Parts: sequence; structure tokens; C-alpha cells
Amino acid sequence: MNQYSIRFGMAPDAGAISVICSSGFYQVHESGFVKEDLESFCKQAYSPEAIAADLARPDRFYIVLDFQEQVVGCLRMAPPSLELAKPDSKGFELARFYLETAHQSGGWGGKMLDAAEAESLRRGYENSWLHVFVPNTRAQAFYTRHGYTKIGEEQLIYQQSHPTGFVLKKTLI
Ligand SMILES: CC(C)(COP(=O)(O)OP(=O)(O)OC[C@H]1O[C@@H](n2cnc3c(N)ncnc32)[C@H](O)[C@@H]1OP(=O)(O)O)[C@@H](O)C(=O)NCCC(=O)NCCS
Repeated sequence: MNQYSIRFGMAPDAGAISVICSSGFYQVHESGFVKEDLESFCKQAYSPEAIAADLARPDRFYIVLDFQEQVVGCLRMAPPSLELAKPDSKGFELARFYLETAHQSGGWGGKMLDAAEAESLRRGYENSWLHVFVPNTRAQAFYTRHGYTKIGEEQLIYQQSHPTGFVLKKTLI
């Protein structure tokens, strides 16, 4: 029996999304951040309160993956924060895309991405943008397979840390 399902994130998911984003961000960015910065960034951006406030905003949405009725993955689409994406009035930005390790490489990330792109199109967006950390080559391969191409590079500046990532874009129409 298939015990996985994909749906939109809702207010009661804030705690689970907070845990998944914190541990996912920590793993992906460990090499690019000073340790104290990593901890304070996760506390600030991914606290259950911050996620609950984000979930309540109508200009964005989360897709979550459930396994046996527990949230094991998430992603967020929101108005652009990347400098390269901001001028694109038809652009939407993918971020906070993490699956718990035990649930990776099973094809579910691809299905979540498809669902996110379909909903973005339904909302009238024509381009999906994202930022992927330079050393995260597996995620880059995943995005390339899903039709994303490199537009440039942007550095995330947070206190003493400044990891660089590639900015990728996909035309959805
Ligand atoms: C990237 C990710 C969301 C894709 O979801 P998924 O369900 O694993 O993806 P699928 O099964 O549809 O596709 C598998 C591909 O995803 C990528 N992938 C799998 N595990 C990964 C991991 N630990 N880290 C990065 N990418 C991974 C690889 O390209 C993989 O192909 P491979 O098995 O041939 O190497 C998921 O793997 C993940 O959470 N990775 C760690 C966090 C991350 O890198 N997030 C993206 C930040 S921009």
C-alpha cells in the first residue's frame, strides 16, 4: 500500500515544517556557514512561530509530503527574494525544499516539485526561480533533470557567513 501523500501545508503543520527546515538547512549549509550563524539563522527563520506566520500569508504556499500521516518533507513557493528574480513580475521562488533523509531518492521530491509548479501556474506565475548552494551538486542534478537552467550566482550574506549559490530558473508555460 502506498503510504505517501502530497498536499498543501496548513497551520497545524508549522511545528513539523519547522523541524524539517531546520535540520535540512543545517545539513545543506553546514560547510558554508559559521556554526553560530547557522544556529541563529535557523532559530530566526524556521522557528514554529515564524513558520506559522509564513503559512498564514496568502501570497505564498507550502507543499508537504506525508508518510503514515507524519510530515516528512516540505517546500515553499513565495514572491522572489533573489536579486536576479525580483524584476520578474511573473516569477515565483522555490525554497525550503527538504525531505527527511529516509524519504529521499524515492521520486517524491519530483512529484512535490510538479505539484508546486502546477499551483504556481494556476496562480498566474510563468517562471520558477531558486537558489542552490554551490557544493550541493546532487540537488543541482535534480533541478537540471526537472528543466531548470543556471542564470547566475548570488551570495547569501548572514552575519559572518556568506555562502554562494547558483540561481536557477525554469519557464513554466
Ligand atoms: C533534493 C530533494 C528535495 C529531492 O527530493 P527526492 O525525493 O530525493 O528526489 P527524487 O527521488 O525525485 O530524485 C532523486 C534525486 O534527487 C537528488 N537527491 C537525492 N538525495 C539527495 C540529497 N541527500 N541531497 C541532495 N540531492 C539529493 C539527486 O539528484 C537524486 O538523484 P540520484 O539519486 O540519482 O543522486 C531531496 O533529495 C532532499 O531533501 N535533499 C536534501 C536537501 C536539499 O538538497 N534540498 C534542496 C536545497 S536547494
